[in-house]
Amino acid sequence: MLYGKITGWGKCLPPAILTNDAISTIVDTNDEWITSRTGISERRVSHVSTAALATAAAQNALDCAGISGSDIDLVLLATCTPSTLVANTASLVQKNIGATGAAACDVNAACSGFLYALQNATAQIQAGMIKKAVVIGAERMTWYVNWARRDSAVLFGDGAGAVVLEATEEATGLMATKTGCDSTDRDILHITNFGSDINKYQAPVGPSDILFEGREIFKRAVKGMSDACDDVLNQADLPLADIDVLIPHQANLRIIQAIAQRLSVDDDKIMVNINKYGNTSAATVPIALCEAVENGLIQPNANIMSAAFGAGLTWAASYIKW
Ligand code: ACO
Repeated sequence: MLYGKITGWGKCLPPAILTNDAISTIVDTNDEWITSRTGISERRVSHVSTAALATAAAQNALDCAGISGSDIDLVLLATCTPSTLVANTASLVQKNIGATGAAACDVNAACSGFLYALQNATAQIQAGMIKKAVVIGAERMTWYVNWARRDSAVLFGDGAGAVVLEATEEATGLMATKTGCDSTDRDILHITNFGSDINKYQAPVGPSDILFEGREIFKRAVKGMSDACDDVLNQADLPLADIDVLIPHQANLRIIQAIAQRLSVDDDKIMVNINKYGNTSAATVPIALCEAVENGLIQPNANIMSAAFGAGLTWAASYIKW
């Protein structure tokens, strides 16, 4: 039996920090509202492309694993803010890291994208099709942000995280996973003015905007992530008490707290960094994973549960043996 061992991890956070007080100078909001409703204090804003963020995170993960890009068979980039659609953004990352000849493609499942990509890369390793993969979540969400809309402008940030997977017979890496999508109400979270459905001859096409029904998304995110975690625990035949670390998608601190309460997970087992970065969509999970290793929350052999929810409406949960 083959497994995909996580042998390297890396992240890239652009240095420019946009605080709540700074946002309050451009839109009618304030630090107290944002902090109390979302848990966000500041976010990063990138002056470079999604591909550049993804490349830096992937290179850091390769350096951590002690291998080079030329060793990689597959580059999977989870993003809903691709630098370019054709050619795909993963191919530019493949070129930048020197993964010559590796398969390269983008995965779009919005905020759930990284866990979807991790499942896909692990399955290819388990099937014996590839030996080494780099899986990245990278986003430049602020590119979509309409800075005149206070409800969405305060929520999002930019960044990237990545892991290297290597085939091994050791029982480690992604051990159980569940992905899904309820498309019935896919319109309650979407980005306008993007994609080939736009009538480009009907000028002018306005800027993109992130539209969502916040309260409905909130409820569905809590239920979707909690239910997916339960499914994965059942699949792995693992009691919740055996989970050492929970890495939830970072969309709102109150969503994270509600999931923790529903699953009965202690606060000291939960990785939270939304205060520093806001919602970086597909990048929240790999960035949080990196930081959980860096700050010692993840120890060797740890049982990690990760969950995400996003546009589609997609969801995913994964049990990872470290
Ligand atoms: N500053 C000040 N006031 C604001 C702001 C702001 N930035 N944004 C909204 N308000 C106002 C509203 O206008 C409203 O005012 P009103 O009562 O006079 O009409 C009031 O605050 C309450 O607005 P609500 O939308 O009801 O606030 P809520 O408590 O639901 O919080 C939030 C909004 C933070 C978006 C929450 O619903 C949420 O986190 N939803 C889920 C996350 C989400 O949708 N993320 C999008 C990406 S999807 C994902 O990642 C899973």
